[in-house]
Amino acid sequence: MSKIFSGIRPSGKLHLGNYLGAIKNWISLQDEADQAIFAVVDYHGITTPFDPKTFHQQVMDVILDYLAAGLNPDKSLLIRQSHVPQHTELAWIFNTITPVSWLDRLPTYREQLEKTKANNMGLLDYPVLMAADILVYKSDLVPVGEDQLPHIDLTNEIGARFNSSFGETFPNVKAKLTEGARIMSLKDPLAKMSKTGDEGIALSDSPDEIERKISVATTDSGKEIHYDEKEKPGISNLMTIYHLLSDKSLTDIESGYAGKTYVEFKKDLSDIIVSFLQPFQSRRKEFENNLDQVVSILEKSEQKCRALADETLSDVKSKMGLI
Ligand code: TYM
Repeated sequence: MSKIFSGIRPSGKLHLGNYLGAIKNWISLQDEADQAIFAVVDYHGITTPFDPKTFHQQVMDVILDYLAAGLNPDKSLLIRQSHVPQHTELAWIFNTITPVSWLDRLPTYREQLEKTKANNMGLLDYPVLMAADILVYKSDLVPVGEDQLPHIDLTNEIGARFNSSFGETFPNVKAKLTEGARIMSLKDPLAKMSKTGDEGIALSDSPDEIERKISVATTDSGKEIHYDEKEKPGISNLMTIYHLLSDKSLTDIESGYAGKTYVEFKKDLSDIIVSFLQPFQSRRKEFENNLDQVVSILEKSEQKCRALADETLSDVKSKMGLI
């Protein structure tokens, strides 16, 4: 049994990579966990450029996606990070024990710096806040996609440094990856699917949009439907999506499409995605029409989380001589 925490930045529409890499795992884990907390990490969202006019809606959009995907408020706590200020309070404390050299070498920091050219403290400090998100609940299992692994390593380094400086407090944290831990862009199968642009399938895409995006998705030379990440990254990525949404094994997909064309494969794949997303989108509409209920789910969860996080902070502060 474990204590689970994970989160997503409200930085654009959620896509199939977020679902297959993270949320799909959360749904099954919430049944077995001792504690399951899933956040919209809005304070992380403001470390890169954002529009204050639409930001609130973006946060609510992620929560609606969580609920529509099957996160159950009877089993999981669903929160907005900024509504539980203990996360940022613990992050400040962690700042005082984290060498800058642990942060400025991180690939995610380097990438964002390259993209945004804005070298603000928030960008550099981003993984310290992530460590605080996880450790403020003494969580030990974090279901994420592959790109987050360096952040989990850092979380353990920070936790270990706190433990050795002030006494045993934080558990070791394990990342939990799915088979969909690295879903690639439809346009460039060597880059990961991201929240911007036309290279991903958003969970809100219409059937026509999905069909169009899949039909123009980059495939490889040759015409076999064969899984080979190195030689055929485009078709392999599409096969992974097919496999994860249909539960058909990769070998069954290969044999089912022996002698068939990319066009036939792509047509079936769009049908699979559409039939997965249609019930998701109608559940989402129901929640959209019941926003009061959604806000009440958030407020109840946040109240519980503030109490849980306070216990850790009191322990931390007393070990440090702050109280
Ligand atoms: P974010 O918002 O970039 O992504 C949210 C989750 O989706 C996964 N993901 C993918 N998985 C597979 N294929 C892809 N193409 C793909 N793109 C994204 C990510 O790995 C992630 O699991 N730093 C985090 C948010 C965060 C967090 C936390 C996560 C803040 N605090 C505490 C866990 C625990 C982030 O930016 O994720």
